[in-house]
Amino acid sequence: MGELNLLELNKSAVKKTGGLQISTTGKLLVGITGGIALGLSAICAPFISPALRRFCLPYIPATNEQIANVLKALKGHKGTVLDLGSGDGRIVIEAAKNKFVSHGVELNPWLVLYSKFDAFKQGLSSNAQFQRQDLWKCDVSKYDNIVIFGVEQMMADLEKKFQKECKTNCNVIACRFPLPNLIPETTIGNGIDKVWVYNFQPS
Ligand SMILES: C[S@@+](CC[C@H](N)C(=O)[O-])C[C@H]1O[C@@H](n2cnc3c(N)ncnc32)[C@H](O)[C@@H]1O
Repeated sequence: MGELNLLELNKSAVKKTGGLQISTTGKLLVGITGGIALGLSAICAPFISPALRRFCLPYIPATNEQIANVLKALKGHKGTVLDLGSGDGRIVIEAAKNKFVSHGVELNPWLVLYSKFDAFKQGLSSNAQFQRQDLWKCDVSKYDNIVIFGVEQMMADLEKKFQKECKTNCNVIACRFPLPNLIPETTIGNGIDKVWVYNFQPS
């Protein structure tokens, strides 16, 4: 008799909940796990999305040696500096420390945020500025010095962009990969830290 009552009680509970009973703690855990998964996806997506673009340009920060070579290439030059694909902002910040008004354009919003925070922390916010922008859509014509740490496959298209947009005497510093058809004014360093320096004149 007691067993029968228990069975009835169970059946009605299953009916009421549609067969699935989740405790409040369970619901909370599902919510927290889902929230964490969503948050992680939102953080990681900007780091993965470059792989889906026409040219896959991943986030690889410049080495100290590479930064030193870029600064050598900037020596004796004046004016503004633009880093195309500025990553965590290290080149822009170093250029700002060397009295250049420096801008970085970067697709990844987290890296832009980090760069702005780092510049602020170092008291360089007025000379080191960052913007979330696609480098292919960035108008490079107002800059005196342009730094690009790209990948080999994109250098020919970049060369065309520079030839079309760069102002007279613009100093282009290509890190790791050269512009394929132009003769550099000079090169600095060796191996993966090598930089090629080009001086643009109207064609
Ligand atoms: C090789 S890292 C160089 C970072 C930085 N310039 C440095 O030297 O430390 C290239 C950067 O370009 C960014 N990037 C990739 N495609 C881009 C695009 N279309 N427009 C702007 N930034 C882009 C990546 O997110 C990455 O941070």
